[in-house]
Amino acid sequence: MSQGAGFHAFVAELEYSMYVVTAAAHGERDGCLVGFATQASIHPPRFLVCLSVKNRTFRIAADARMLAVHLVAADQRDLAELFGGETADEVDKLTRWPWREGPDGVPILADVENVFLGRVLDRFDFGDHVGHLLEPMAARHEGDVDPLGFKQARDIEAGHPA
Ligand SMILES: Cc1cc2nc3c(=O)[nH]c(=O)nc-3n(C[C@H](O)[C@H](O)[C@H](O)COP(=O)(O)O)c2cc1C
Repeated sequence: MSQGAGFHAFVAELEYSMYVVTAAAHGERDGCLVGFATQASIHPPRFLVCLSVKNRTFRIAADARMLAVHLVAADQRDLAELFGGETADEVDKLTRWPWREGPDGVPILADVENVFLGRVLDRFDFGDHVGHLLEPMAARHEGDVDPLGFKQARDIEAGHPA
């Protein structure tokens, strides 16, 4: 097995939660489905969100001070399809899902029980994704959720293919 094929097979076995990450800057706003995200430290609390350089959300996040990280529930396939299957380069996703403006204008999506606002502390060029290291500033936890997993979402055709 080649190194590339082996790694591809390895990551295809992984399961991880899906999020919608939103950003606002210069009067523009957007959000996209994200799987490359994880808690990165406990003390201090830190979370890493990786955005594809192809995404409009990335271009907005480049100038954003805050990102909102929404945990997608297993029964919110519609949310994942909208924010993962459409790009705001073509469709204004935020006219199709209710939201309100949070700090710095970042969209806070309705009907998402677990969401936190993170201040961008640093950005890391990983290749075709840029890691955004977040310091949580505020969080809404309205109940335990069964998160939508990568394996349930990977058949969605990304608005901006990797
Ligand atoms: C299962 C799945 C996982 C994805 N993971 C990421 C990710 O970790 N980071 C990212 O930037 N985009 C990811 N995407 C792609 C974006 O959600 C997608 O291209 C979106 O349409 C971009 O929208 P935008 O151009 O409005 O930002 C993923 C898509 C799918 C279907």
